[in-house]
Order: sequence, then C-alpha cells, then structure tokens
Amino acid sequence: MTAPPSLEVRVARKSVEAQDICTFELVAVDGRPLPAFAAGSHVDVQVPGGLTRQYSLCNDPTESHRYLIGVLRDPASRGGSAAMHERLAEGDTLTISAPKNHFPLAHDAKRHLLLAGGIGITPILCMAERLAITGADFELHYCTRSRERTAFHGRIAASAFAQRVHFHFDDGATVQKLDIAALLETPQAGTHLYVCGPKGFMDAVLGSARASGWPEAQLHYEFFGADVAPLAGDGAFEVMLASSGRVVVVPKDRSVVQALAAAGIEVQTSCEQGVCGTCLTRVLEGEPEHRDMYLTPEEQAANELFTPCCSRAKSARLVLDL
Ligand code: FES
Repeated sequence: MTAPPSLEVRVARKSVEAQDICTFELVAVDGRPLPAFAAGSHVDVQVPGGLTRQYSLCNDPTESHRYLIGVLRDPASRGGSAAMHERLAEGDTLTISAPKNHFPLAHDAKRHLLLAGGIGITPILCMAERLAITGADFELHYCTRSRERTAFHGRIAASAFAQRVHFHFDDGATVQKLDIAALLETPQAGTHLYVCGPKGFMDAVLGSARASGWPEAQLHYEFFGADVAPLAGDGAFEVMLASSGRVVVVPKDRSVVQALAAAGIEVQTSCEQGVCGTCLTRVLEGEPEHRDMYLTPEEQAANELFTPCCSRAKSARLVLDL
C-alpha cells in the first residue's frame, strides 16, 4: 500500500475557541494553495510526540489558503490532544496528510438531519455551512456540556442559518435537552442523518435510529478516538500470512499490528484506534472479533475485513491476505 501524500504546514494562528477547545489555522509552508476538500473531510495530523490523530476541517471548503481544525483537550486521551494544546505554538510546523473524506454529504438527500456532540461539531458545522450555501433543507442539533464548552457558538449564532440550529446544554433546563429517541422515532424517506461526537453520544444516536428502523444507507457517522485498551478476557491467538504461510502469535496484551511489527511485518496504520480504516486487512479464514468503529455492522458481520490495530480473533487463527 502506498503512503498517502503528506503536506508540511505551519500554525498561522492558534486560538482558544471555548473551554478546553483550541482552533489551529494551518497554512502551507511553501505558501502554495492547499489541496481542495469537501465538507466532512479530515486530515491526519502527526502530533508532536509521535502520535497520529484525525481532525476534521471546519473552515469553508472553498478556501485554499488554510485549513482550520478544532481540538478538544481530552483528559482521557492517550496524549494526542494534550500535545496539540501544550506543545504546539503559532509558527510551529507540522506534517499532515492531504484531506480524506469518509463522511461526505449525500447531496441527493431531500433533507439532512445533523447531530453534533461536543467537538463533533467540527465536520458537522462545515456540512451545515455547505448545505446553507446550496439552499438545502437541514436542521442541526448541537449538544454540549455547557455554553462555555460550546465551540463556534458565535459563528453559528451569527450565521444565516442560525434559526435551523438547536443548542442543547447538559447543564441547562430540562426543556432544552435533546430527546434523541423522540427526534428519531419516525424514519423519514429521503432524510439523511449525520452524527459526530463522543462515543456515548454516537452510540445513543445510532442505537435509537437503528431501533426505530432507519435504513443503514441513510445513516452517516464519523467516530473520533476510541478506547482500544485490551480487555480482561483477551487471549492469545494466531495470525497466518496467506502469501508466505508464516504464522505469528498475537499475545493477549498486544495488538495484531504490534505482534506483526515485532515479527518484522509492517501494516500501515494511522489512528491505531479503529476509527480511520487505514489498516483494513482482508480476512481469508477465521472469525475476527471486531473492536473498530469504522466498519458498518453489516461489514463487521460479513467478517471479510478487519482492523488489526485494535480488533482481535474469536477463532484460534485468522488467515490474513498479507
Ligand atoms: S489504524 Fe485506523 S483503523 Fe486501524
């Protein structure tokens, strides 16, 4: 697999956007226009300290002189967001990937229902602005813990589509809280649902939608970080490389990617959290235990692909197309 093209960028501006949330305006080091992107796109950022993290672009996609990303300082993270907040200053340079879009708008939809939880607003805001420009029918629900933690509140309130946006604060009155089950009770033909936010929020939204019978084709979602720590009941298993017949043991406390790397076999990764799909590998035999949030439930059930950065095996051996 060839590595995606990378870009050298400079932090032109770092701003506090809300409590624990900073935005970073990134411009090309060589001053040339940046590659184009569409609403919903993200870039992989090589964070100071060696981690790679995905951040959605939240500026106007018609701009080519900058990318804007928003980063929540997450105390539960493995250090990516803390490094962005603490170690990155204006003038610093970074390596990022070209934009990728796993979360595109369905432009043929009749109506768009956008749901954002916390920092999940970044791709959703870009989508809302795009939909407003194209005159599409949409509604945005934005749930946060409090007004102080609500990124882009001013930008949204001042926008031409402000009346289409409903803010829901966890610390606010009950009457303004989002009743997800009621909102999604009746799937509507032609309405597409988009959701981005913390895992609990996404699970609640997607769980309600699926329970109410929303067709999978009308559900669009993008997870950010995930908890991929080994579980207490994890055991060892084997992976066999179909090309060579070589067998590698995956110990209970190592991922498939780590076990393969220790055996000198490199699998390209990016997020190492089961959210980006970079490591997707074809499974030829055996049953994976999926721990990713990239594949749809149908794709997971098909057991033809798995993410070796975090997923494991239910069977004693997996034969991989490597
Ligand atoms: S590296 Fe991102 S899903 Fe595996």
